[in-house]
Amino acid sequence: MSVADAFGRAAHYDAHAAVQRIVAEKLADRILALPLPPDPRVLEIGCGTGFLGLELVDNLEPSHWRMTDIAPAMVDRARQRLDDRANVSFAVMDGEHPDVAGRFDLICSSLTFQWFGDLPAAVARLRRRLSPRGSLVFTTLAEGSFFEWRRAHGDLAPGTRDYPSTEALAAMGLEVEIETIPMAHKSAREFLRSVKGIGAGTPRDGHRPLTPSELRGVMGRFEAKGCVASYVVATCVAGPL
Ligand SMILES: C[S@@+](CC[C@H](N)C(=O)[O-])C[C@H]1O[C@@H](n2cnc3c(N)ncnc32)[C@H](O)[C@@H]1O
Repeated sequence: MSVADAFGRAAHYDAHAAVQRIVAEKLADRILALPLPPDPRVLEIGCGTGFLGLELVDNLEPSHWRMTDIAPAMVDRARQRLDDRANVSFAVMDGEHPDVAGRFDLICSSLTFQWFGDLPAAVARLRRRLSPRGSLVFTTLAEGSFFEWRRAHGDLAPGTRDYPSTEALAAMGLEVEIETIPMAHKSAREFLRSVKGIGAGTPRDGHRPLTPSELRGVMGRFEAKGCVASYVVATCVAGPL
């Protein structure tokens, strides 16, 4: 299943998205502290159901906020939340290859760039779409995310992706801040349900699914260590190229 289909099917995204909500709120505070031009023109990538837009649209008073996501169902849900704002528009778009005209004072995104195939190239492309005083600001998962789940795999290969290190992000010209958010779960099953519930269950390319007995072993070891899965969140900022 494609990433867009998996997110499109996440009908109960909001109920499972506690971390996403916290991260979007903190990102909104970070954006409000930036020296942006007045009435900024904004492009949001991977808007999901609209957490970040909801935090910012009224406070930032953008001249225009373009909300985009690769999953049509997510764009529909964001539209249901924010359609009453005259300065907001919606589009289905692959943010890794943005199909938009003009330059933006702010390009922002929360917990989406970890799905990009070539992050350095995407970052460079997006920085070229900034106005002279514009900023690219995003959160993404970084190295160490879900290390407890990975550890429970022992010698087996986990389906979780390889997330970039702070050094790799800095090498893309990004200013990086890291925060670790440990999330406790009732059981391994509940952890897996939450990952699926937010549409993030797509394994990395080439992953061999575990056999039922291998999966039971992983779940048992994960539960034996307390059922905590940590999100290592990088907040990244850069100016135009
Ligand atoms: C974890 S959700 C985050 C959604 C929202 N920003 C939030 O904080 O709740 C990731 C979102 O990225 C979207 N996405 C994944 N790959 C994308 C891409 N290449 N371009 C645009 N959106 C993408 C998914 O459809 C999903 O809505």
